[in-house]
Amino acid sequence: MENQKITKILVSEEEVRERVVRLGADITAYYRGINKELMVIGLLRGSFIFMADLVRQIKIPLIVDFMTVSSYGDGTISSGDVKVVMDLDSSIEGRDVLLVEDIVDTGRTFSKVIKMMHNRNPRSLKTCTFLNKPGARLVDIQIDFCGVDIPNEFAVGYGLDYAQGYRNLPYVGVLKPN
Ligand code: PRP
Repeated sequence: MENQKITKILVSEEEVRERVVRLGADITAYYRGINKELMVIGLLRGSFIFMADLVRQIKIPLIVDFMTVSSYGDGTISSGDVKVVMDLDSSIEGRDVLLVEDIVDTGRTFSKVIKMMHNRNPRSLKTCTFLNKPGARLVDIQIDFCGVDIPNEFAVGYGLDYAQGYRNLPYVGVLKPN
């Protein structure tokens, strides 16, 4: 059932499922035949729901790891000053790595994390985001696997929060103004 605080749905529950299935199929096709398990890295906290759905649609052997980064800013726009709050558990050196985000907005967070990961010498590094906001981009980054482009509105649900709430909504929507 729809949440009373949501004014508009950007990605319905059904569309979420369709997009994740398609991403899983694309990623499976791309990596089929790699000789070691794919390493899928999720950026917390936002990506946890998408990660859980996505990895079940990737039909090749893989392992998962997570990293928590925080960006300092005024709270609504990330400042680009990214700090690692919780690092990966394992080394990515020589591995095929897929970095997973819930949303790429300005691109600052992903850009910093991509640079950080490249410095650790993975065998290959690709990027995947469920949501993409091209209209908000400030830093040019390469997204290899993209779920849905959305307009430049503040989105919540399917892992995305407002003041840590709404992450459990099974769809992506826009909050009503206060
Ligand atoms: C959100 C999101 C991305 C980032 C995108 O994280 O998960 O990491 O912002 O914004 P950007 O492209 O402008 O850098 P947030 O800092 O809200 O933390 P969360 O993952 O815990 O929700």
